[in-house]
Amino acid sequence: MKRISILGATGSVGQSTADVILAQPREYDVQVVTAHRNVQGLAETAQRLKAKKAVIADAGKFQELKDALSGTSIDCAAGEEALLEAASQPADWIMAAIVGMAGLRPVLNAIRQGTVVAIANKEPLVAAGPLILQEAAKAGAKIIPVDSEHNAIFQVFNPESRTGVERLILTASGGPFLRAGLSEMQGATPEQALRHPAWSMGAKISIDSATMMNKALEVIEAHYLFDIDPADIDVLIHPQCIVHSMVEYTDGSILAQMGASDMRTPIASALGWPQRIASPGRKLDLKVLKEFTFEDVDSSRFPSISMAYDCLSAGQGACVALNAANEVAVEAFLNREIPLTEISRIVSVILEKNEPGSLRTPEDIICYDERVRDLTRALIQQTGQWSRVA
Ligand SMILES: NC(=O)c1ccc[n+]([C@@H]2O[C@H](COP(=O)([O-])OP(=O)(O)OC[C@H]3O[C@@H](n4cnc5c(N)ncnc54)[C@H](OP(=O)(O)O)[C@@H]3O)[C@@H](O)[C@H]2O)c1
Repeated sequence: MKRISILGATGSVGQSTADVILAQPREYDVQVVTAHRNVQGLAETAQRLKAKKAVIADAGKFQELKDALSGTSIDCAAGEEALLEAASQPADWIMAAIVGMAGLRPVLNAIRQGTVVAIANKEPLVAAGPLILQEAAKAGAKIIPVDSEHNAIFQVFNPESRTGVERLILTASGGPFLRAGLSEMQGATPEQALRHPAWSMGAKISIDSATMMNKALEVIEAHYLFDIDPADIDVLIHPQCIVHSMVEYTDGSILAQMGASDMRTPIASALGWPQRIASPGRKLDLKVLKEFTFEDVDSSRFPSISMAYDCLSAGQGACVALNAANEVAVEAFLNREIPLTEISRIVSVILEKNEPGSLRTPEDIICYDERVRDLTRALIQQTGQWSRVA
């Protein structure tokens, strides 16, 4: 039996991971499942998966979790330290599905076990990619990308033919505002921005998809994961979301991975690796496809993507700043403090103030991330004469 842990088990990716595991429950022995504050979701997931332990990051929720799991043999723990211990609990395969930079330390602890770590949690890779890869190499850990685009590339990218890679092509759905004008985007409510046309995901990544900051983060993620020059990473809009990304080789071959818009496929691919296992996810019926199109991104409405390339040439500090400022601005949009279109403007103002200093250790990165968050919050407050979004 494969010993499994899920960090961020109550989220969209965490629940899809639970579905994949429950399709063949006898194959897996679930060690730990974690969440932030969602006690009921965590208790229910721990019981469904017959996990040995459930950990809630918010220390104030310990008693509630204990009550929810009373009468079961599932061990409970709470708080930041307990979350870090959960990531260090021996396992053969760990799903990193926390959202945001809160996942950095848990991801590092998981990697330091020298085990297989499936990473959906893209923000730590964006802010601390070189450190994460170094730690993985030191510990002998195997990182398997779960983000559908990077998982697609992982499936069709042969590191032994690296010199023959012409470019990586990341596909993008374009999100809910692909055909919207700027004024419509300016007046968009959180409810409208959260309505993704193809994928059902957590709130933060859904807003990132609406601004296409998600693709900016993914360009940086791809650069670190596959060690490909940013100039050789392209983005194409593919509204049908059938091709999840491609690798073009120098001989003219383009290898693509296709599938339905269902995270259970990349998760199953990561869980089964290097074998293939069955997924309970939706399957793609090629016969019903009516359209299959690719187009360039309109950078006047989606300025975030070009920021990713600027950040990669500016250095790692800019990537930390891009990610931190974006996390704060997305939260402000969800709290109706700023319009959607302000997110990328705020991020670009913050990037002009980028002064990272040394970023060698996790502490350096977390400290700079926190400074940028404070700066961003101050900027939002200073210039906060935006009329609240209805
Ligand atoms: N959803 C997708 O289809 C998808 C696709 C590709 C990549 N990703 C990436 O995968 C990650 C997870 O996305 P998601 O959509 O699954 O997010 P989500 O639905 O918001 O779930 C996030 C998970 O992280 C936990 N969490 C949040 N803040 C935390 C903190 N401070 N400390 C510890 N745990 C915390 C949440 O617990 P609570 O429930 O208690 O809040 C929840 O279990 C993101 O980085 C995202 O970009 C997602």
